[in-house]
Amino acid sequence: MVKILDTTLRDGEQTPGVSLNPHEKLEIAIKLDDLGVDIIEAGSAITSKGEREGIKAITSQGLKAEICSFTRAMTVDIDYALECNVDGVHLVVPVSDIHIKHKLRKTREETLKCALDAVEYAKDHGLIVELSGEDATRSDIDFLIELFKKGVEVGADRVCVCDTVGVLTPERSYDLFKRICGEISVPVSVHCHNDFGMATANTLSAIRGGAQECHLTINGIGERAGNASLEEVVMALHILYNIKTNIKTEKLYEVSRVVSRLMKIPVPPNKAIVGDNAFAHEAGIHVDGLIKNNQTYEPIPPEMVGNRRRIILGKHSGKAALKYKLDLMGVSLSKEEFEKVYERIKNLGDLGKYISDVDLKTIINEVRGESPE
Ligand code: KIV
Ligand code: ZN
Repeated sequence: MVKILDTTLRDGEQTPGVSLNPHEKLEIAIKLDDLGVDIIEAGSAITSKGEREGIKAITSQGLKAEICSFTRAMTVDIDYALECNVDGVHLVVPVSDIHIKHKLRKTREETLKCALDAVEYAKDHGLIVELSGEDATRSDIDFLIELFKKGVEVGADRVCVCDTVGVLTPERSYDLFKRICGEISVPVSVHCHNDFGMATANTLSAIRGGAQECHLTINGIGERAGNASLEEVVMALHILYNIKTNIKTEKLYEVSRVVSRLMKIPVPPNKAIVGDNAFAHEAGIHVDGLIKNNQTYEPIPPEMVGNRRRIILGKHSGKAALKYKLDLMGVSLSKEEFEKVYERIKNLGDLGKYISDVDLKTIINEVRGESPE
């Protein structure tokens, strides 16, 4: 069983141009809880008054999921998180020399001390602590492991390796997690970004290497090219790796649409699992195979993720697809009518059009109008 920390409301909300009000945050959090995520990163309490209102609205709901706030290794951040009554903090410390030197303008020793002081402070205040190494995949691994080990000694409940700028490869991810998980006594989590389009693959490799939790967002939204997408990782785990999560997969499509609507980020049609084309079929050969047995061209049953099969009529369609559609619509045509309808579909397809169900009904009516009764 792999645990899911959903960061749609924190890293996802960092998508350029996105800002949710407290009601919208709450609406998404309720959906995420219902979906079955184990931990909801509800936001970053230090950010603003509105952000704190949103986090408080979420923590007052009594959801099943653990609710955490993102914090830096600073008591002021932890105090704001406490004010929001969260269960825990996602306590983030930059660990690469690039970040330590140029962003924090500190030394490794100073960074380590800040991290440990912050973990102790959060634990003294009764919080669950997930200690994250920011830019961990460009850090010195010995320093990273030292920080994690010392963090665990002072009470960190989990640690997380962040591939902040998405530079992992699946091979490196596996090796890195194998090593870290072999040395750390608490659950290790993975947080991947998609700069090279490999966030899902890297997350899966980290899990193969021993990670017990992964950070994901709905629709893969997040900073720059986004985060590892929840629906992709979960379905790959369930179907390709036979590893379970607590996600109720049949709710994925609905949650994807709620997040898309509230964040005003359209879901690309070809988005795996939740895109409108993810289960759409047009090519004659495909539709013919599919009609005989869905598994020919559907590695995932669409109903398993709450999506639906779409048979598209257009230039690539075969007669089997048209017959399938007509059967679904309960329409029966004479042989001559059928041939005419099919020809019109092909002609329209050649003009670059695809035929919606409404178009098809119009074509049928026209053809019937032309045919002698
Ligand atoms: O990508 C990242 O490193 C993060 C951390 C700040 C947790 O989102
Ligand atoms: Zn991130």
